[in-house]
Amino acid sequence: MPELELIVKNGNIVTAADTYKADVGVKDGKITTLGSSLSPGPDTKVIDAEGKYVFPGGIDVHVHFQLPFSGTVSADDFENGTKAAACGGVTTVLDFAIQTKGHPIMEAVEARRAEADPNVCIDYGLHAAITDWNPETQAEIKKVIDYGIPTFKMFMIYKNEGWMADDGMLFNALEETAKLGGHIGVHAESVDVLEMLIEKYAKEKDKWGAYGHTLSRPCFTEEEAIIRAIKWAEATGGQLYIVHMSTGEGADAVEAARKKGVNVYAETCPQYLLLDDEVFKGENGHLYATCPQIKKPHDSERLWEGLANGEVQIVATDTCTFDTKQKAAWNGDFRKIPFGMPGVETMVPLMYTEGVGKRGFSVNHLVALVSTNPAKLFGMYPEKGTVAVGSDADLVVFDPKKKVTIKAENLQTNCDWNPFEGWKLEGYPSTTISRGKVVAEDGKFVGEVGHGRFLKRKPYGKL
Ligand code: URP
Ligand code: ZN
Ligand code: ZN
Repeated sequence: MPELELIVKNGNIVTAADTYKADVGVKDGKITTLGSSLSPGPDTKVIDAEGKYVFPGGIDVHVHFQLPFSGTVSADDFENGTKAAACGGVTTVLDFAIQTKGHPIMEAVEARRAEADPNVCIDYGLHAAITDWNPETQAEIKKVIDYGIPTFKMFMIYKNEGWMADDGMLFNALEETAKLGGHIGVHAESVDVLEMLIEKYAKEKDKWGAYGHTLSRPCFTEEEAIIRAIKWAEATGGQLYIVHMSTGEGADAVEAARKKGVNVYAETCPQYLLLDDEVFKGENGHLYATCPQIKKPHDSERLWEGLANGEVQIVATDTCTFDTKQKAAWNGDFRKIPFGMPGVETMVPLMYTEGVGKRGFSVNHLVALVSTNPAKLFGMYPEKGTVAVGSDADLVVFDPKKKVTIKAENLQTNCDWNPFEGWKLEGYPSTTISRGKVVAEDGKFVGEVGHGRFLKRKPYGKL
């Protein structure tokens, strides 16, 4: 038998379905053996995982590294963003190539790959964001799916960025992707009502400060857009994925649609599960502005319920890092805050502490939410998202006893603040392995820049 490169010994293997004690043997970046008492050769690296879990690596299907947005560029580029991911137990990220109106989608894909390929430290893939719909775009959908990008994104807002898709575009794109096994992710907010409310509260911006961001985006603006997008999915038979769902009403709408048999899935993020809009009232409230914004405690509760009962299937982060200098551009006007926050580095341990530790989620369910479901729905399973012979050796050795207090200064992200500053975690990744290579140890990056690969993903993902 050829010598193993790596053995992870004595750990408790956790997949979405099972927990069992075994050694994991790795060769050529793949898991080749699962068994007991695997024998190392003279050059085999051995990691002792006694008392620890061995998860499939986290998969964050929603990050925006070096995104030009709000007059600036998000502060974690592909290199540092993927380093941060590795430090937090994430071994795969999906970012976005956003079509420039009037240009082919593939032009954006190639530009994004040129930025990412030489720099990524873990594996990554891209969604294609459709901002234009015409015969050329329609014809390009098949080409993009065949290229390895079966998942598309459409923004129901962001007119000024030139990213907005109207209902007709959304309908057409759902119809076209349905034929080819693709899916459409939507950023769902009601653009016209939002614009009206933003202008209304902007008249009193000095009175409201950052809280104006919340007042101008009430829950019904997300709910209405989700219901509309669901209707187009129902009418076309297309697969719809609600990104960064932030409201209880959204979860209700998704639940009702799924009960009717509509092909809709939903993602939420730690900021919507763990924070509420009181954060905007603090001195640095503007730092927390994301889009959609953080809602009320009852929304968080409903989203947790959705995660528990399967109505919400995926946790991702919408990482879009802006540091305090970049956020300062708001200068008292909530309309000018660059929207976004760091997240990929803390997703897995936060969801462990809060989901498993405090809410009684099983560790298997955690693995489903942050790894297996994303791998299945986004066309990466079983290469990613599980611990099995033949799968990529993307592994997290997770210490359930390790105590860490979140501090921006200790994290890899380029962000100088953190939405969860001072939060106490119990459970943290001790080693992250990407295709058999150790890329992070105890929250510090130890891998190689450029180790990551672009992932060609398969269509027809489902759960
Ligand atoms: O605040 C956010 N989410 N910024 C990134 C763009 C988006 O809407 O996903
Ligand atoms: Zn969005
Ligand atoms: Zn986003």
